[in-house]
Amino acid sequence: MCGIVGYVGKHKASPFILEGLKRLEYRGYDSTGVAILQNGAFHVVKKIGRVANLEKEIAKSPLNGTFGIGHTRWATHGGVTDANAHPHISSDGKIALIHNGVIENYAAMKKFLLTKGYTFKSETDTEVLCNLIAYHYAKEPVVAGENRLFASVRKTLLHAEGTYGIVVMGVDLPGEMVAARKGSPLILGLGDNENIIASDVSAIVARTQSVVYLKDGEIVNVTQKDFRVTTLDQESVSPTVDRVTWNIADSEMGAYAHFMEKEIFEQPVALENAMRGRFSEDGSTTNFGGLNISASEFRGIERFMFCACGTALHACMVTEHMIERFARIPVECDYASEFRYRNSPLFRNTLFFVMSQSGETIDTLAALREAKRKGYKVLAVSNVVGSTIAREADGGIYQHVGPEVGVASTKAFTSQLLIGAMLALYIGRMRDLSFGAGQRCVTALKGAPDLVRKALELAPHVKAIAKRYAHYTDMLFLGRMSLFPIALEGALKLKEISYIHAEGYPAAEMKHGPIALISEKCPSVIFAPAGEIFNKIVSSMQEIKARKGPVIAIITEGAELPAGLADEVITIPTCHEAVLPIVASIPVQLLSYYIAVERGCDVDKPRNLAKSVTVE
Ligand code: G6P
Repeated sequence: MCGIVGYVGKHKASPFILEGLKRLEYRGYDSTGVAILQNGAFHVVKKIGRVANLEKEIAKSPLNGTFGIGHTRWATHGGVTDANAHPHISSDGKIALIHNGVIENYAAMKKFLLTKGYTFKSETDTEVLCNLIAYHYAKEPVVAGENRLFASVRKTLLHAEGTYGIVVMGVDLPGEMVAARKGSPLILGLGDNENIIASDVSAIVARTQSVVYLKDGEIVNVTQKDFRVTTLDQESVSPTVDRVTWNIADSEMGAYAHFMEKEIFEQPVALENAMRGRFSEDGSTTNFGGLNISASEFRGIERFMFCACGTALHACMVTEHMIERFARIPVECDYASEFRYRNSPLFRNTLFFVMSQSGETIDTLAALREAKRKGYKVLAVSNVVGSTIAREADGGIYQHVGPEVGVASTKAFTSQLLIGAMLALYIGRMRDLSFGAGQRCVTALKGAPDLVRKALELAPHVKAIAKRYAHYTDMLFLGRMSLFPIALEGALKLKEISYIHAEGYPAAEMKHGPIALISEKCPSVIFAPAGEIFNKIVSSMQEIKARKGPVIAIITEGAELPAGLADEVITIPTCHEAVLPIVASIPVQLLSYYIAVERGCDVDKPRNLAKSVTVE
């Protein structure tokens, strides 16, 4: 949600900020803007649309200042207009501000500021915050050695309710930025004679891999050579400087047409990275370094609770299936957004897990905090090292798949499925799962990258199918058992990036409602792996065919469908049950990708969506 970059240093600020904004564009992309301080004045350029529009505008009269801020917006307060784009400048011209988050009490602040003569050009909560900082700045006494801007930002934030990640500049203070966060990520990049503030490391790694992850309630004063962190309550903080393991090449598209395509085809390597070093020497179970929970504590767990949003929730649902199957322990999954307000009763001896690719999703973070408040230990599965969720959890498992840029999650999803299966195996081996069954499972998991490579060879076949189905307006995705969540995920992927209405359903539930939608205008994608309920799934297909619904069947090798039942057949390799959901995800990822391309959609930046949702 909204990308933020602030730069102070020895180079021109605007090219660096524009480059950073392009890398952050996946966070929000309805409008962009920069403010550069040069010759004692703010030079502000704002444009609706993509960073490329802003770049063209700036090229008309290049900006030379070495100090500035930039923003990509995902609208919350106020429509998508140039005026609502960030940065905002206070009406007295003194303060420039970029903001990610929502200021909930902005209306009361605005009322107050109007009585003090401040005026507003936009409909945003951010402009209100900006004017309130200007108000405090104007009142703050000038004391040698004291930072007026820092003091006025601090005073303003003491009144702010809601969430924010902000970067502020003062027109009288060249080379000095103030940034603060509560609920929205901010990272300080420490460069050589230059410092950067950004909402995501991908905007920083071009210049430095040394970073400080700011925590909620912290405020930092940044100059070209120095920085000082305190809490809003003025307690000094000794920040830890971390090293980012990603480099700039990891977040580049290379020869692919879209990040989503790159990330789909990267999955074999991503899975190898996610499993590396995590199998036991005897080859019968898994090990996770960062769980921070002893084997005996784990042994005492009687229930698991998983919370997440979007695609990550689908990964939790598959994990539920795996843990119940391998470890025979009850698991519950819930939408993080529901759990956080539902006050649901939890059993004692429950281990709580959250899953979040970004580690910043606000609802997932709130669910984590709610579970901790109730006294539960919370572990996190996340891809982003140092993310808020990873830091606030008691322990967890990193996915290690490198940056995922495409808004539609692919490699992060399959690595979550892998980690879920590995976790189920780990717990299973502490209980009833035998050494031999554990070994078979490990062998299967180790083979997952190659099976995914094989499934990716289906790309030309799936592309041809996509061309034939791209004109439909409705689609059903049906699956059973561990493939029901993959049906949900297939439907989510399709609607996210191609704007085709799609629903995921358990295949047998189809006759309790969705069957009413079936006609020659509504195709069904249906998973039919060989196995104990294959014939039941075939019956569901018959019911669809009897109503003239086109059928795209995804079967495993050796499964034999009655002749003429499916209009299209996609055959994936046969695999162990722990690996099946991973391999079955590939054709639905490819299908939604190629359909979206065929329809001319903006695959990596679908309308209205953002990769990391840091507002409620
Ligand atoms: C957004 C994204 C989804 C993602 C969800 C959860 O809605 O568009 O692709 O699954 O957030 O994200 P997380 O980073 O918590 O996994």
